[in-house]
Amino acid sequence: MPPRFITLEGIDGAGKSSHLDFIRQWLAERGIETVFTREPGGTDLAEKLRALLLAPDTDVSLETETLLLFAARQDHIQRVIRPALAAGRWVVSDRFTDASFAYQGGGRGLAGERIAVLADWVQQGLEPDLTLLFDVPTDVAQERMAATRSLDRFEREARDFHERVREAYLARAAQYPRFCVLDSSRALEAVRADIAARLSGLLMEQR
Ligand code: TYD
Repeated sequence: MPPRFITLEGIDGAGKSSHLDFIRQWLAERGIETVFTREPGGTDLAEKLRALLLAPDTDVSLETETLLLFAARQDHIQRVIRPALAAGRWVVSDRFTDASFAYQGGGRGLAGERIAVLADWVQQGLEPDLTLLFDVPTDVAQERMAATRSLDRFEREARDFHERVREAYLARAAQYPRFCVLDSSRALEAVRADIAARLSGLLMEQR
């Protein structure tokens, strides 16, 4: 049974984190050994880069920001994702390369071709088997964020930025069949039912 690589994506405040425990429990109940990880982050070095990248007082150009994200991703793939898959474990990553296309590409305007060069370089053919895209209207996401936490460097961006990030995610979802777009403005239970259906599908494919 080949292990699967699943990624979770969505604009800030889309509710991705609320579903992580459900996914964890679902896979555990079926005896699937899974490594849960996140980007930027997932290794000691990448978590240090994450802290720099998210700190509101970090002054960094778009090019440098992108290279730091991909440096973190290289370390994460090399030390965590590939070894886990090689050992037969599933991997669930809270964000992956689609976030760079959505945030640095869509949100900040970096050309997609430049991001693709870095993606090819670090991924070397590694692609998620399934990407769950938690989608909500930008206004709903902004309300949720404002209500729950202090905001990081990306979350502080204007509404237009998040709108462009959302559009970029949806454009990628339309392009790649590995995406499953979940209307995350619904009740948690409804979203969970869709997640369970999609995970079941992934499991069936393997049998
Ligand atoms: P996020 O995953 O939303 O974590 P939390 O739920 O703790 O806020 O935070 C990561 C932030 O990093 C998010 O705002 C998106 C941003 N990001 C990028 O801009 N590009 C990337 O390639 C990645 C992985 C994340």
